[in-house]
Amino acid sequence: MQHNKVLILDFGSQYTQLIARRVRELNIYCEIHPYNKIPSDSESFKAVILSGSPNSVRGEAVLHPNLKGIRGKKPMLAVCYGAQYLAHFSGGEVAESNTREYGRANLGFVKPDEDFFENIHEGSQVWMSHSDTIKQLPTGGVLLASTTDVENAAYKIEGEQTYAIQFHPEVYHTTDGHQLLSNFLIKIAEVEQDWTPQSFVEETVDSLKAQLGNDKVVLGLSGGVDSSVAAMLLHKAIGKNLYCIFVNNGLLRKNEFEDVLHQYEGMGLNVKGVDASARFLDALKGLSDPELKRKAIGSAFIDVFDVEANLIQDVKWLAQGTIYPDVIESVSATGGPSATIKSHHNVGGLPDYMKLKIVEPLRALFKDEVRRVGASMNMDKQLLGRHPFPGPGLAIRILGDLTAEKVRILQEVDAIFINNLRSWNLYDKVWQAGAMLLPVNSVGVMGDERTYEKCVALRAVESTDGMTADWVNLPYEFLQKTSNEIINKVKGVNRVVYDISSKPPATIEWE
Ligand code: XMP
Repeated sequence: MQHNKVLILDFGSQYTQLIARRVRELNIYCEIHPYNKIPSDSESFKAVILSGSPNSVRGEAVLHPNLKGIRGKKPMLAVCYGAQYLAHFSGGEVAESNTREYGRANLGFVKPDEDFFENIHEGSQVWMSHSDTIKQLPTGGVLLASTTDVENAAYKIEGEQTYAIQFHPEVYHTTDGHQLLSNFLIKIAEVEQDWTPQSFVEETVDSLKAQLGNDKVVLGLSGGVDSSVAAMLLHKAIGKNLYCIFVNNGLLRKNEFEDVLHQYEGMGLNVKGVDASARFLDALKGLSDPELKRKAIGSAFIDVFDVEANLIQDVKWLAQGTIYPDVIESVSATGGPSATIKSHHNVGGLPDYMKLKIVEPLRALFKDEVRRVGASMNMDKQLLGRHPFPGPGLAIRILGDLTAEKVRILQEVDAIFINNLRSWNLYDKVWQAGAMLLPVNSVGVMGDERTYEKCVALRAVESTDGMTADWVNLPYEFLQKTSNEIINKVKGVNRVVYDISSKPPATIEWE
């Protein structure tokens, strides 16, 4: 089935993915493309959204899209930079603003527009984030709304279905942002809301059947949401021809290997659990540099997976749980590559000689959509709600070198922390949580004895995508009880601290 779809042209804004997620929340399919790579089938899109940008339309670094074929022909919503672009190059004027234009503002209507502002009230809070301002509207521009500091906060172009707004409807702080996007897409552009988890499952299963026929497919399960949902879709399409491999690298949470394996079997998956803990520990022996640890784990994984995949006769495909944020081509504001902060190890880099074709059923989905798709296939809520867990597992939460004893200590600590989060109903309010084993011993006293033992740090963060994060204000009583329990029950630990750093400047993991 051909879905109604919306084209989002990206000018490098940090919020572009958020626009796409908001559109998808309306059950409308959309795609993000760089501003200078408009897809050749732009005809098939029902509406277009221009994103914001860190660049200025006035400077040398102005980003010029080729809007011929789109402008005036398709309903268009221009956000922030988009609004300035349309103004500046179509007879209006943009200048540096001399008042502060960041943060909250309130909309005042100049000309009521019943469709665009339906169910949005005078004074509605919007979020501004820009340093240029529109001084003069473009030719045919009709002013719709202003705020105290920004006169040209929203306008439309006479005779076109083109709307432009200086504020960001996609961010949480724009209270009626969802309503505004819905007004533009559903009322004005008449885009149908035909993108639902159920339709995604039906269509994906059909197309996987057609693509894979009787071929065999191998997939590495990690216990996480993405690989599990990808496995369920493939299972529905090809049943026993899907061969799942779940590797225990010895760096998982306490009892996770057995529990998750059991759960996968209960879901009817054809899954083989491979316990390679000793091999991974061996590969990590003596390594304390985080990047070397990641590399050692990555290559041990490939070795183990390769041996297992080779045991499957005539396997043709490798399935991966790649999701949309991994495949969106990003627009770099500076033109240069961004710095590598941590080299994430994922199942991706298999050696060429395996010669497997790649199948990625979740390539079009955001993480929250993966969860919704899983729920529509009646997958277990607890499995779908699991916190993200890094591929290298506890190895990057044990600072410095690893031993089996350190892994044991951290597994115990982590299990107490996570179980308590669950029993206090805090688990689902936290985006990710875990414990770090620090490479320091400190002095303590237990009974009449002096102790000299390990210190652990607990970390719980809220986030939407892991790119930025803030620490969670867990109740003092919770921290008190958890700290007591850890020190009383886990031999080798005599001190617990709580990490109160945000990302940036810290990162979520300590290594
Ligand atoms: P950082 O520490 O970079 O983490 O703030 C952001 C998110 O990424 C996860 N993470 C990893 N995931 N392999 C992974 O698969 C890795 O090497 C890795 N390092 C960090 C981290 O758990 C958080 O969710």
